[in-house]
Amino acid sequence: MAIFCGAQGNKFLFTNDNKLLTSWWPQSMKKALLFPEFVESNLKDVSALKRSFHHDILKPEALKQYIHLMDGLARDHLDKDWKPNTIVKVLPLSKKYTFELACKLFLNVVTQHDIKRLSDPFTLVTNGMFSVPIDFPGTAYNRAIKGGKLVREELMRIITERRKEMTERSETEGRDLLSKMLLVRDENGQFLSEMEISNNIIGLLVASFETTSSAVTAVINYLAELPHVYNEVLKEQMEIAKSKGPDELLTWEDIEKMKYSWNVARESLRLTPPAQGAFRETTTEFNYAGFTIPKGWKNPKYFPEPEKFDPSRFEGSGPAPYTFVPFGGGPRMCPGKEYARLEVLVFMHNVVTRFKLEKAIPNEKIVFYASPIPVHGLPVHLHPHQK
Ligand code: HEM
Repeated sequence: MAIFCGAQGNKFLFTNDNKLLTSWWPQSMKKALLFPEFVESNLKDVSALKRSFHHDILKPEALKQYIHLMDGLARDHLDKDWKPNTIVKVLPLSKKYTFELACKLFLNVVTQHDIKRLSDPFTLVTNGMFSVPIDFPGTAYNRAIKGGKLVREELMRIITERRKEMTERSETEGRDLLSKMLLVRDENGQFLSEMEISNNIIGLLVASFETTSSAVTAVINYLAELPHVYNEVLKEQMEIAKSKGPDELLTWEDIEKMKYSWNVARESLRLTPPAQGAFRETTTEFNYAGFTIPKGWKNPKYFPEPEKFDPSRFEGSGPAPYTFVPFGGGPRMCPGKEYARLEVLVFMHNVVTRFKLEKAIPNEKIVFYASPIPVHGLPVHLHPHQK
């Protein structure tokens, strides 16, 4: 296996995707996630449809209509899970929020009971998906396989029920991602099968869950650690909050005003990238730099004082091409980039306008699991603003 990194490596990968290289996922991951019928089969046709479709349903214009839902859910979550406490663990809570948000926006699953039917087995999948793939009772990988089966069963139930409901009501408008998937037709005019839709939804859940909750946690970590950054974000977010009534939810125009906050989020993504890399397989033999591994992305040539948290790097024309790639690039660039941007900004708005933050463990270590996470879950003291 060869590892590519740095601006040159990124450029090479992103410009040769589908030419010299193609997407690849370990068999062990596919076995935990997909229906057995799909594990061995060639997924190229399905994923080609999936890709353009993902970009369609996750593009900014399509997501605009969900901002008030994101804000409403963030408010409820903070009132219920943050406000009653003086200290909270950010990582488990941001995971809870991210999963609940996905359940709402992807599937319109909203009750705690129904969310739990998905989140319990899904947690088994994410905890064991990257473990040593030994499928033997008692191993994390074995639990991941069992969890994957339960998630698929639950999804099939939801999808079948929804298809029936939509047919009965002759629905032609998609109210959430699931109904949009049920309405899409492939190039032969056929609707996607329940299994294909289930695979797509599992793909979205897996791609969005650990990444986005890691991104939210990392941003809160920097806000709690760097008062000068927190104060600038607070100023920007308070101006937005003051321009609205207390019950008025965030809109696309509000998000567009969060320029400094987004620079802070991007600087956080630069220093703590949730996706550490991805897999490719070669479609043809080629040479690249004699397979030497270029020096890493913290190259001071591109980012002066690379370790310093400095959101102003993103002002003006921003970093050089292929040097800042938290969402990948080329044909395989993350289609969930805008969803993640909205989730992070809406969450930041709600946290900073309510609380000042203080880390309970000042130098908490970050460990790299699937995504980087603070080893103790990032406990922070909450200091509500005086009204
Ligand atoms: C901060 C959060 C996120 C980060 C850092 C991130 C990062 C990435 C990266 C680097 C890739 C490219 C992988 C490759 O080159 O093979 C990717 C792919 C993907 N992401 Fe994200 N992602 C995030 C959130 C999301 C969200 C919220 C969704 C869905 C709502 C999503 C859906 C996907 C999908 C479906 C792919 C596969 C695209 C394909 O194979 O064509 N991601 N993501």
